[in-house]
Amino acid sequence: MPERLSSLLVDWQRRYGRHALPWQNTRDPYRVWLSEIMLQQTQVSTVLDYYARFLARFPDVRALAAAPQDDVLALWSGLGYYSRARNLHRCAQQVVSRHGGDFPRSAAALAELPGIGRSTAAAIASFCFGERVAILDGNVRRVLSRVLAFEGDLAQSAQERALWDRATALLPEDAADMPAYTQGLMDLGATLCMPRRADCLLCPWQVPCQARAQGRELDLPVRTRKLKRGRRESWCLWLRTPQAVWLQQRPDSGIWAGLWTPPMFDDAAALEAAVSRLGAGTAQALPSFVHVLTHLDWTLHPHRIELGGALQACEPGQDLPPAPLPELAPGRWWRHDALETIGLPAPLRRLIQPPTQPPTMP
Ligand code: ADE
Repeated sequence: MPERLSSLLVDWQRRYGRHALPWQNTRDPYRVWLSEIMLQQTQVSTVLDYYARFLARFPDVRALAAAPQDDVLALWSGLGYYSRARNLHRCAQQVVSRHGGDFPRSAAALAELPGIGRSTAAAIASFCFGERVAILDGNVRRVLSRVLAFEGDLAQSAQERALWDRATALLPEDAADMPAYTQGLMDLGATLCMPRRADCLLCPWQVPCQARAQGRELDLPVRTRKLKRGRRESWCLWLRTPQAVWLQQRPDSGIWAGLWTPPMFDDAAALEAAVSRLGAGTAQALPSFVHVLTHLDWTLHPHRIELGGALQACEPGQDLPPAPLPELAPGRWWRHDALETIGLPAPLRRLIQPPTQPPTMP
């Protein structure tokens, strides 16, 4: 039975699956790894542009390892989940420093690298090296829970381990089938076996699928734990001169770690106190917006204040002007035309770096 399941899927993938995605038709682990990291929590349609830009700027793992972190974050800006970008960069550096620039060729060794979890390691090893090893990302959990009518609660780690074991038992015998099998699981999860819709009539597993036999395909998988969403509010002071903007780099952990943002305050009073010490008039309140994260709705209240004066800031080699207030340090002035080279969270980039206008005709 497992062999039958795998061959049904492999045949279907070869005929009907996706074959023209830019990270397919290659066994280059750098390209496959980059795509798998970008595709975590992000849809294919969003990843396509980022993937092309990233490869154009960093064509191989050595180029990525050698880049400044800010360049990596700048190219990632808008993809979200920035810990992925920082781990990506650290991973490239370790591939160069510990593995001579070649990705290790087994899932077990790949999973030792930063940002590569068990399922991602298995995807890379099966696509690039034909290793017989199971993937189990969110989509595949759903597909396998249904085909096997697996009733265990996946919030429990013992049940999750049991599903990993079942996934391993289903692998094709022939390692040459591994890339098509792994891609087939991903294709089913992305195109037919969806969270709230199952197009069973098109599915290669419609006959053996035990959830379908029981009419329960939309009841599975079972997962009791619900995410408890938090809320947070921050007040954000966008200090601007005709040439530059004052930004602070966020700490190495937490939301937007390592990215540049205007100074943030936990309440309106703290922002107003800073504004009054600046002595440059009142700040203009801009429309508030909610930034939705996995665990958190974060409401941001941006305020803008214009400081006059010619700031010859940020020319390479020149002394930078100091913080406009001691409590706004550490930070630095960034020229408006340098903003596209640094990592800014996408919603703040939209705020402080509006798209450049095409020149108007005379
Ligand atoms: N999601 C995760 N990995 C993928 C891949 N290789 N192709 C399409 N979608 C994916």
